[in-house]
Amino acid sequence: MSGRLDGRVALISGGASGMGASHARAFVAEGASVLIGDISDEAGQKLAAELGEAAAFIHLDVTSAQDWRVAVDAAVERFGKLDVLVNNAGILDFGPLGAYTEEQWQRTLSINLTGPFLGLTAARDALVAARPASVVNISSAAGIQGVSGAHAYTASKFGVRGLTKSAALELAPHGVRVNSVHPGGILTPMIGVPEGSTADRTANTLGRLGMAEEVTAVVVFLASHESSYCTAAEFVVDGGMTAGRPA
Ligand SMILES: NC(=O)c1ccc[n+]([C@@H]2O[C@H](COP(=O)([O-])OP(=O)(O)OC[C@H]3O[C@@H](n4cnc5c(N)ncnc54)[C@H](O)[C@@H]3O)[C@@H](O)[C@H]2O)c1
Repeated sequence: MSGRLDGRVALISGGASGMGASHARAFVAEGASVLIGDISDEAGQKLAAELGEAAAFIHLDVTSAQDWRVAVDAAVERFGKLDVLVNNAGILDFGPLGAYTEEQWQRTLSINLTGPFLGLTAARDALVAARPASVVNISSAAGIQGVSGAHAYTASKFGVRGLTKSAALELAPHGVRVNSVHPGGILTPMIGVPEGSTADRTANTLGRLGMAEEVTAVVVFLASHESSYCTAAEFVVDGGMTAGRPA
């Protein structure tokens, strides 16, 4: 049986849990080989073992350019090339202005925004060599509209949306497409509603949280050749949250 990602080789950051793990499972099921990169070694190794020969785990802290270089080399060494990069790792935190510290700001920006930049930097040559290639940057509904009290998160996710445009424009002539995905509230370990958050995460048109697999369906599409005419675009998977207030 042929899969939608047959022969593709993907590196997924933050692939050990939540949506990243869901993407890894679906990619393997659709015929891809996947290198799972995460700081969560135990969960990442467990998932890779569960997925078998088509998957491997590597310790990847997305704030480290050196970790990224090693991860890209490992993907090429183990699976022969790298034609899909999913910049998925991210953290969420909240705090009102005046209490939210510069350290919190820097940490969130460095994981959520500098991480994808370092990933693109490290993977660029391998992706171009493997063309046609695809980069999927996981932004958020918070990259489309503000989230009260989530200053660095909102800024980082708007930043990921912008980085997607500049990278897509630069890499288009080299056969690399770059798109952003904007999930709304998705049921993952990330969203035990944090202290201090007043966000009503069910406030969307569909009136419920989303499941990781509902985002994965879009990520698989973007990683595959089915999306060959999509680049520099925003794919919103938010149950209608950013459309406006439900009736
Ligand atoms: N869950 C939601 O409602 C939601 C909504 C919109 C966007 N997102 C985005 O989706 C992505 C995945 O989130 P999730 O909900 O699956 O969260 P999650 O917490 O389940 O998974 C995030 C993963 O990133 C890893 N990670 C954290 N810091 C890292 C680092 N420095 N280097 C490498 N890996 C690191 C974690 O170990 C974890 O495995 C994130 O970018 C998040 O911002 C989530």
